Amino acid sequence: MAKTKTQFICQNCGTVHSRWAGKCDGCGAWNTIIEEDPTSGIGGGPGKVAKKGKPVTLTMLSGEIEEAPRIQSGISELDRVTGGGFVRGSVLLVGGDPGIGKSTLLMQAAAALARRNNRIIYVSGEEAVAQVRLRAQRLGSADAGVLLAAETNVEDILATLADGKRPDLVIIDSIQTLWSDMAEAAPGTVTQVRVGVQAMIRFAKSTGAAIVLVGHVTKDGQIAGPRVVEHMVDAVLYFEGDRGHHYRILRNVKNRFGPTDEIGVFEMSDAGLKEVPNPSELFLGERNAKAPGAAVFAGMEGTRPVLVEVQALVAPTSLGTPRRAVVGWDSSRLAMILAVLEAHCGVRLSSHDVYLNVAGGYRIQEPAADIAVAAALVSSLAGLALPPDCVYFGEISLSGAVRPVGHTGLRLKEAEKLGFQKAALPAGSAELPKTGSTRLTALEGLTDLVVGIAG
Ligand code: TYD
Ligand code: MG
Repeated sequence: MAKTKTQFICQNCGTVHSRWAGKCDGCGAWNTIIEEDPTSGIGGGPGKVAKKGKPVTLTMLSGEIEEAPRIQSGISELDRVTGGGFVRGSVLLVGGDPGIGKSTLLMQAAAALARRNNRIIYVSGEEAVAQVRLRAQRLGSADAGVLLAAETNVEDILATLADGKRPDLVIIDSIQTLWSDMAEAAPGTVTQVRVGVQAMIRFAKSTGAAIVLVGHVTKDGQIAGPRVVEHMVDAVLYFEGDRGHHYRILRNVKNRFGPTDEIGVFEMSDAGLKEVPNPSELFLGERNAKAPGAAVFAGMEGTRPVLVEVQALVAPTSLGTPRRAVVGWDSSRLAMILAVLEAHCGVRLSSHDVYLNVAGGYRIQEPAADIAVAAALVSSLAGLALPPDCVYFGEISLSGAVRPVGHTGLRLKEAEKLGFQKAALPAGSAELPKTGSTRLTALEGLTDLVVGIAG
């Protein structure tokens, strides 16, 4: 018998190495490489007879398939992110830091679905049934009729699920506790997680049940992270948030059945997660509009406008190399804006420390925030507060021009709704609203903005 060759697999990204190393070449993580037997859990075993399949043309299928059948929870922030509900027969992964609220969110979703006469099974590998029930009681979900099971072995879970009626939705909390008899590696390793997830995917496809998998994101790589199964599942959601703040964002990063880049906003309270239907009000809640260095950015998350405050502090430095610190935005983007301000507008910041912060612990992902960042920087440098009722958006190019961005109408409408009466936006913006009382300042180039603020 041939000697089985072991592989060294990074637990963070799944990259296979031929020998052990301290640092993974794939993702750059340290101490994440573990020796595993790649052959365990793969293949049908001896005696497996190959079955002949029959390819079909796509047109043959048309007429049979309509929209993917979905199960809606009625929690609109959640349904929006999934693209209209959980899809039957699909597998969805919910990732996030430990303690961020994944189990809480899914217990609330399970209860909401069970109340709508769905059969929901919550399989917990992390907590005992009594613990899960206690949490459900705190959330006011104990009487919803969610079925609980505490299992970690994949074969046991499948036997539990196959017993009796078919479930509509199964929650597996978490993939890192799954282990199968088919694989020899330790629980939590890439091999075990993959084998477990594969079994769950097969179950979903064969029974039509929707499956939600919970995966912890780990920094130290001691257990395999959700990244190693992202490509196997149909949709991936990440639950994010800052421990210092109460709100949480559910973000869609992959979706085979709908749009990505939608977000759902929740607030963590004593009684679990509460929906936040208007996130702008939350992010602008503690605003001090009279301070220099603060600009309100009219941003977008998917199809949804989000207003958030960008704060800058520019101070003379005593260091040879000035400091640049950014929270909530891309630091290379900040470097670019500083360079454009210096090259095209004569705003010199090379002898100043620059600190940039997005209020509320929110993370901006859009280049449309360029103009808001530039406005906050110039305002702080000049020591002049920006008009408190003005919003800013637009992308800056390296030439110093201000480029139009999408969804102008939606951004302006949200700003108007929250009492903003002015907007600085790119000249040539499309879809400007015909009505509306907002006074618009069209910016051709970054210089227009700088002159407008500092005179
Ligand atoms: P949890 O859902 O257990 O996180 P995860 O499954 O992602 O590890 O959430 C745990 C945190 O949520 C914990 O720090 C306490 C907090 N929490 C509340 O603030 N209110 C609540 O009603 C519940 C159930 C949890
Ligand atoms: Mg949990």
